[in-house]
Amino acid sequence: MEIVEDWSARRNDVIAAARALAATWPARPFDNHNGITGPSAVALAYFLRRLAPTTVFEVGVWRGFSTWLIEQAVPQAKLFCLDPIFTVWPLLDPAKFGTTYKSPRADYHADDFSCIGLQVTPDRRDRLVVLFDDHQNKVIRLDQARRAGVKHLLFDDDVPYAADHETFAQMHLGNRLPPWFAQVVRRYERFPPLWQAVERNGRSHQALDLPDLPELAPFKAERDKWSWLSYIELA
Ligand SMILES: C[S@@+](CC[C@H](N)C(=O)[O-])C[C@H]1O[C@@H](n2cnc3c(N)ncnc32)[C@H](O)[C@@H]1O
Repeated sequence: MEIVEDWSARRNDVIAAARALAATWPARPFDNHNGITGPSAVALAYFLRRLAPTTVFEVGVWRGFSTWLIEQAVPQAKLFCLDPIFTVWPLLDPAKFGTTYKSPRADYHADDFSCIGLQVTPDRRDRLVVLFDDHQNKVIRLDQARRAGVKHLLFDDDVPYAADHETFAQMHLGNRLPPWFAQVVRRYERFPPLWQAVERNGRSHQALDLPDLPELAPFKAERDKWSWLSYIELA
């Protein structure tokens, strides 16, 4: 298993992804809170542009901002959006819940990922990406995805400190990853902060330090909302 933490060779590709997202940023459906935004929106755009999937499963949708982000990065991809919240979406008071975004190109399901019966055939493994932003224990999600034949996985909130669910970063630090992890994972890439950021545990992490381009100012303004997006490629 390779753990990628040096991002200097990818800096130009990250800048390209950030500039492409910046071009559509003024058309965003709303300003996201409690979800992916700012530097992590750039991280998601970078990984999706690199992987270029034709199908994306989004697990944990909330108000739909990450759905919009996926559409900006891979506009041709088919989307499947999974979240139990859809059972109550129509009942939520927009004045309290806020604006939602629904994609005309997505299929929406309230079922859990583990229950949808996904089985990816070997010829389709490189065309499919699953994004987990559902705050469920990540090792369990990884195992479910592995059994379904998924190869490319993105995980938001892979935080290295105690959270509402168990993350790879915490388990790695505490030497608690299961022995099979290193056997099934080919690459584990932790996206860095774009600019020096203050993290929730008060520490700071080596940043990529993107140039101060005017179009990137909205992402820099949200630099503390970096949310530890990780990519895992399964063998
Ligand atoms: C942090 S929010 C997602 C934010 C969203 N991706 C964004 O960027 O705006 C977490 C979401 O996970 C959802 N969730 C909880 N359990 C889930 C499950 N088993 N499957 C899918 N989603 C789940 C919650 O309903 C909530 O909407």
